[in-house]
Amino acid sequence: MEFSAYSGQSVAQRSECLVIGVYEARELGDQARAVDRVVGGRIKELLRRGDFSGRAGESLLLTELPGLRGSRLLLVGLGTAGGYQRRAWKRALGTAITALGRTRIGSATFAIERPAGRELDEYTLARAAAEACGSALYRINDLKTGRRPPPPALARIKFGPCTPVGLADARRGLSDGAAISLSAGLLRNLGNLPANVCTPRYLAAQAAQLARSHRSVRVRALNEAQIRRLKMGCLLAVTRGSAEPPRFIILEHRGGRRGAAPVVLVGKGVTFDTGGISLKDPAGMDEMKYDMCGAATVLAALDLAARLKLRLNVVGLVPACENMPGSRAIKPGDIATSADGQTVEILNTDAEGRLILCDALHYARRFKPAAVIDIATLTGACVIALGAHHTGIMANDDALAEELVACGTRADDRAWQLPLTEEYGEQLKTNFADVANVAGRDGGAITAAAFLGRFTKGLKWAHMDIAGTAWLTGTAKNATGRPLGLLADFLIRRARA
Ligand code: BES
Ligand code: MN
Ligand code: ZN
Repeated sequence: MEFSAYSGQSVAQRSECLVIGVYEARELGDQARAVDRVVGGRIKELLRRGDFSGRAGESLLLTELPGLRGSRLLLVGLGTAGGYQRRAWKRALGTAITALGRTRIGSATFAIERPAGRELDEYTLARAAAEACGSALYRINDLKTGRRPPPPALARIKFGPCTPVGLADARRGLSDGAAISLSAGLLRNLGNLPANVCTPRYLAAQAAQLARSHRSVRVRALNEAQIRRLKMGCLLAVTRGSAEPPRFIILEHRGGRRGAAPVVLVGKGVTFDTGGISLKDPAGMDEMKYDMCGAATVLAALDLAARLKLRLNVVGLVPACENMPGSRAIKPGDIATSADGQTVEILNTDAEGRLILCDALHYARRFKPAAVIDIATLTGACVIALGAHHTGIMANDDALAEELVACGTRADDRAWQLPLTEEYGEQLKTNFADVANVAGRDGGAITAAAFLGRFTKGLKWAHMDIAGTAWLTGTAKNATGRPLGLLADFLIRRARA
């Protein structure tokens, strides 16, 4: 998709279709009114007859309109003028893309009213528009064998009208947003793949592919023997029950000054989580193929850092394995020794994410990082707490947590901080080892973070629990691409600060 920005009149732009928004209750905004004058009042007439309601999600394509350069006009419903904010605006963009995607229209000029709101400068708005369009164009990488619908013809979008002084900012926003949606596509594809395809070795091969695609990226993938040499006893404990070999993947984007402290991203890469001997309920277990979405986010973030040539050093760490029951699998009560020497009593083999992450977080120390952020589909408790709307953030550094929350708000990929005070860690005490891997149901998202916190002392560290936000369930089942938008905002700001 090629995005460009324009200023001035939408009707003066050359493209096959002009796209405008119409509010519910027949109201015309400034953009629609200007177009209505050019088409001799046809829009008002059509609304008066009740041929278009303006409700959110609706669209109507009008053709053979004299006076318009492409002779086509797409109306999209904006909902009520009072409720027209960023969410409604993004929905309208998505509706427009979906409608255009069903036609053979190759180029369109967007003149949808902009939403009001703080933080919505030209750059942010344009970036969000390109992201929303990219996301609406995403097709699941399914393995269906029937005839595929042809890919949409839509290849060029003009975004505006921008203020003349804002054009440069809008262009930057569009190009950043287009890059984000490409990287989000990588993340979503990896998440949506079945676990018999997307194995630890597959993730390692995808990481290696990133190194081939981008000159700034270097990748190494450690095998089981190398993982053993690093004494990652907790990662080894989780992988024991599986016939698939584990990998520990290290990615580096060297875009900043030599020696400048990197941001280290750590992603949970459980390519399938059966629960192990603490076996999960069968209902919905297929969704545990998404248990590597943290890992996929890290791969996508490095892809993005390289695409945007960010002047920042970014390291990605991905502990990858399966969590399976088997005759060699770890059993409740088994004790493993983590890479930093702490002994861990594994009371529940289904609390495996924290086990593979603790070894990876310890490994992060060697980079002397400016910040460490782990991303993980870690707890069902986080879904109970925040639902599918906010990613949970817990940190040992409030400034870092607040920075990430602000990035999420700006990127419309929202996150909420949960308290990580000492009390939660005390629930992890056991008579048999330094720490237990579970602490009962209460505050489950936070006790999981408290476990990780034992391995990040002295680091500036934040944990993002994406169990509720990484994919949609039910008939809409699909990876969402979250929290790449939030992390993109974070990395771009850190690089351009
Ligand atoms: N991958 C799951 C968490 C999860 C569950 C994510 C449901 C999304 C939806 C994780 O490994 C897990 O099983 N966590 C347990 C922890 C418990 C045993 C303390 C959970 O949340 O039930
Ligand atoms: Mn689990
Ligand atoms: Zn898991």
